[in-house]
Amino acid sequence: MLAEARLRPGARVLDLAAGAGDQTHDIALAVGPTGDVLATDISPKILDFARARIEAAGLNNVRFAVADAEQPVDADEPPFDAVTCRLGLMLCPHPAAAMAAAFKALRPGGRFVALVFGDPANNPCITTMMQVARKHRGLTEKVSPYVGGGLFSLAAPGRFASLLTAAGFVDVAVEPIAAPFDLPDAAAYVDFVRSSGSPIMEVLAPLDAEGREAAWREMEEGLRQSEGEEGWRGTNELLLGVGVREG
Ligand SMILES: C[S@@+](CC[C@H](N)C(=O)[O-])C[C@H]1O[C@@H](n2cnc3c(N)ncnc32)[C@H](O)[C@@H]1O
Repeated sequence: MLAEARLRPGARVLDLAAGAGDQTHDIALAVGPTGDVLATDISPKILDFARARIEAAGLNNVRFAVADAEQPVDADEPPFDAVTCRLGLMLCPHPAAAMAAAFKALRPGGRFVALVFGDPANNPCITTMMQVARKHRGLTEKVSPYVGGGLFSLAAPGRFASLLTAAGFVDVAVEPIAAPFDLPDAAAYVDFVRSSGSPIMEVLAPLDAEGREAAWREMEEGLRQSEGEEGWRGTNELLLGVGVREG
């Protein structure tokens, strides 16, 4: 994703839905001390966590702001060279609004790059976890995997590319990327999901603590099928979307 953003030292980057700040950290390193990174997220709590991590890493070229990716960027911000969004865009109920805001925030020639989840059939870990979470909530009604704001909302064939084009981007490309998780065991994957602000947490939120723990345990049991002698490998397919604001 960062290679597609073509980050250079001194660049200005807006990192949307920055979460715990993993990719923000890498962006800050890529643009260097003369660069400027604005990391935004709708959740103040996760952004506090990101801020602490970035500060602990000794990086002082990152600013943080609580913001909804669907809303226009602060008018006082000069144009950005790149807007990035890793695994957040598909959670926006109105992704077209988020893409329009990203387009407007870019300088001419600036690049928008985003990673979203790909075809649900190629993401069995997520579908397994979501099925178990929904079962524990008693949500039996069948829902489309492509439901707006859901993990796979941009995974329907052609949808991501057509939204990028409609937002005004040119040189639009959307490519599937195999991004398997290699972890020691299924428990490590469950820990990762629990720390990542995943929508699975939202599904489980109305349950009491005991109910939530029972659901996490069942998810872990289901995921153990992917454990082998060399650890746990979770199949995971992402879509990397790129668009350029014509210069
Ligand atoms: C799966 S996490 C990804 C975080 C980070 N980019 C990463 O890849 O590790 C999704 C993040 O999107 C944020 N988010 C969800 N909806 C959002 C919105 N409308 N505007 C901004 N952030 C949003 C969540 O708070 C969460 O931090």
